[in-house]
Amino acid sequence: MRRLVFSSAGESHGRGLVAVLSGLPAGLEVDREAVGEELRRRQRGYGRGGRMAIEADEADFLAGVRHGRTLGSPIAILIWNRDFANWQADMAAFAEPGQEPKRPAVRKPRPGHADLAGALKYGHHDLRNVLERASARETAARVAVGAVCKQFLAAFGVAVRSQVLAIEDVQAKPADLSSDEDWARVEASCLRCGDAEAEASMRAAIDAAREDGDTLGGIGEVVALGMPPGLGSYVSWDERLDAVIAAALMSVPSVKAVEIGDGLSLARVRGSAAHDEIAPDARRTWKLGRSSNRAGGLEGGVTNGEPVVARVAFKPIPTLQQPLQSVDLDTGAPEIAHAERSDVCVVPAGCVVAEAMMALVLADAMLCKFGGDCMEDTLAAYQAYLARLEGMVGDGA
Ligand SMILES: Cc1cc2nc3c(=O)[nH]c(=O)nc-3n(C[C@H](O)[C@H](O)[C@H](O)COP(=O)(O)O)c2cc1C
Repeated sequence: MRRLVFSSAGESHGRGLVAVLSGLPAGLEVDREAVGEELRRRQRGYGRGGRMAIEADEADFLAGVRHGRTLGSPIAILIWNRDFANWQADMAAFAEPGQEPKRPAVRKPRPGHADLAGALKYGHHDLRNVLERASARETAARVAVGAVCKQFLAAFGVAVRSQVLAIEDVQAKPADLSSDEDWARVEASCLRCGDAEAEASMRAAIDAAREDGDTLGGIGEVVALGMPPGLGSYVSWDERLDAVIAAALMSVPSVKAVEIGDGLSLARVRGSAAHDEIAPDARRTWKLGRSSNRAGGLEGGVTNGEPVVARVAFKPIPTLQQPLQSVDLDTGAPEIAHAERSDVCVVPAGCVVAEAMMALVLADAMLCKFGGDCMEDTLAAYQAYLARLEGMVGDGA
């Protein structure tokens, strides 16, 4: 990432989360309601835990936006943690005189979470010092920033959408995310799944896991529609956009695999069945299209004008109400792991976070290619590029 810089600060039960995004051009109209709606999309989903009933995330714009438009300066967004009221004694930056933590130190690391590795690395005695930041609460900051990036991309006709393809071993018939009808069905589903029959089985699987004090993972798909060709580059390893997208999606907590296009299954077929044949397409400015999109819109690390498609595999989350075996770090003796109020399945919410990461990476790639300090300049460069593409391919006469 070279043009956009995003960072966040905040602990899960601290006062709040702060997100800072630098590098967006001036003059982008920001829809605050749409940012709030993205935050609510992240909070929804069958299988979420009690925390989501407490938090009703709102994005408070502190800087970088004036009268609804970006200034070109860093944008700062604050998301307050409502739950902080219940955690003040434990999480305050500075303890009030006489104020004692209500909760004992966490000393039994959860397998699969950052508890143990983080404590060893940073020298923390109380594992809470690790888990408060390793918690996916931080992804609310990503979604707020991703929402602004989505609004930037929309100015170029790009939309980022996602769906759940599988929970545990229940597989859904994929919806066509380029169809507004299918998309409306996915958005209306409590599991971001357009296949009603599969959704019912997924709900049953989640209920059964909850009953057993267990958790479930699954697979999600993120798609960027309306992509121009030419974002990213093959010239250097770190400019290959497939690699940048993979890293961004892999950074989503609990994601353990990322597939671009037909990814894994391409390894099992011949080249003649793996690639997307090129054909004239009068609907495109660059007059070319594909009969399939197995490459997921990326060849040589460069967008080819087809939708960018990535799939992500989420592991089952680590906090189990029937915890796995661990060790009490005080005694060194075997003990069951710490359990904390938790979700059962986060795949639908994880998809919303994956959309945000995709939007951030694509907005950056767009700005790397088209530059501009204000939207007018960026859009003018984009239009000039499309005009050049128009002249690159003959008319098929
Ligand atoms: C939206 C979302 C919510 C999550 N909620 C929980 C949770 O409630 N409990 C939990 O143990 N893990 C949860 N996770 C997963 C952990 O944050 C993640 O497994 C942990 O940080 C370790 O990172 P890793 O799985 O990528 O190795 C959630 C992940 C996402 C994307």
